[in-house]
Amino acid sequence: MSYTKKLTFKNGKFTILQVADPQDLQFVRGTMMKMLDRAYDAVKPDLVVLTGDQILGNHLRDCNRWTMLTVRDKAGEKLAIRTSLIKLLDPIEKRKLPFAMNYGNHDDMNLITKEEQADIYREYAYCVGLDQTDPSVECDTYNIPVYSEDGAKMLWNLWMLDSARYDKTEKRSHHYVTPETVAWYEKKSAELRTRNGGVPVPSLMFQHIPLPETLALIEECERKNAAICSEGKYYRLKSDVYGVLGEYPSVCETQVGQFDAMKRCGDVRAVVFGHDHSNCFTGRLDGIDLVQTGGASFRCYGSSKARCVRVFTLYDNGGYDTYTISYWDLMGRTPVSAVRYFWDADEMAYIKGFTLGAAALAAGCAVGAHLIRRGKQ
Ligand SMILES: [Fe+2]
Repeated sequence: MSYTKKLTFKNGKFTILQVADPQDLQFVRGTMMKMLDRAYDAVKPDLVVLTGDQILGNHLRDCNRWTMLTVRDKAGEKLAIRTSLIKLLDPIEKRKLPFAMNYGNHDDMNLITKEEQADIYREYAYCVGLDQTDPSVECDTYNIPVYSEDGAKMLWNLWMLDSARYDKTEKRSHHYVTPETVAWYEKKSAELRTRNGGVPVPSLMFQHIPLPETLALIEECERKNAAICSEGKYYRLKSDVYGVLGEYPSVCETQVGQFDAMKRCGDVRAVVFGHDHSNCFTGRLDGIDLVQTGGASFRCYGSSKARCVRVFTLYDNGGYDTYTISYWDLMGRTPVSAVRYFWDADEMAYIKGFTLGAAALAAGCAVGAHLIRRGKQ
């Protein structure tokens, strides 16, 4: 951990800005960075939380195929990761905003270990966490206490859980929270409860891969009412779930009893996910909110409905609010922001290619017609 000051409430509240899936390469797309700059300045959060897939780790090598910059080995990958993270983290550090992070599935898909990547984050003076030493869990599994304004009482706690790992031998990603991580959480939660006079400490839990229980928030429906189609079936959000369903939730592949553990501990008010870039919604199950945040990256798939950041406001009575601020909210519905979106968003690639091709063809025809006219004169 680089940031050693206590995180404290200010004026009766504590504000968190979540950035989900900013995943990009060494050449971070400018439109996302502009959107994030606007978000930091508009919200002025007390903490920025990066919930995984900070880099597109599995494409660090092939992204350079058409340039003189070729990544060939582990040293090259490390340099590429550092370059990408510097572009992502410098604007946060420059604003003196404390930030916390955990990993997603893409961060780990390269030769650089999580611990080696953590050392890059730890170079930042405003990096919070990454400080637990229990060898049974990954370095991005830790907790962050949030205190009252005078620093005397812990009012909230934030859980950061690792939920994905890449087997570098099998070359396969595994998406789940390990039983060891759940056991660590239960033990630590009990410690905090004891310190808090036997009362569970209100908590938010952040992890990259959605819990399997997320599937309880959607329902199969007729095609005419559907938000999505997956494997020939049609789905929508249930009526008491609010937001956008843009894809079938890609949840933890193994059920390890994490949600039951959260219910036993009684501390988690909401568990917050990224990973599914086109999904952005909130729903409640058994008294715990399941919060899905859309992806920020313009390099990867996404949608104009879901690209956003999410804000949490914590209150000293154990309550909280959450809302999202979309790309359009932050940038305004102006011709410039529309052109920026069109130019950088991956889902616009085909339309952009067609438009540029058509424009080139039209220009070629115009030049040809002009030359023919000149030839006749
Ligand atoms: Fe992911």
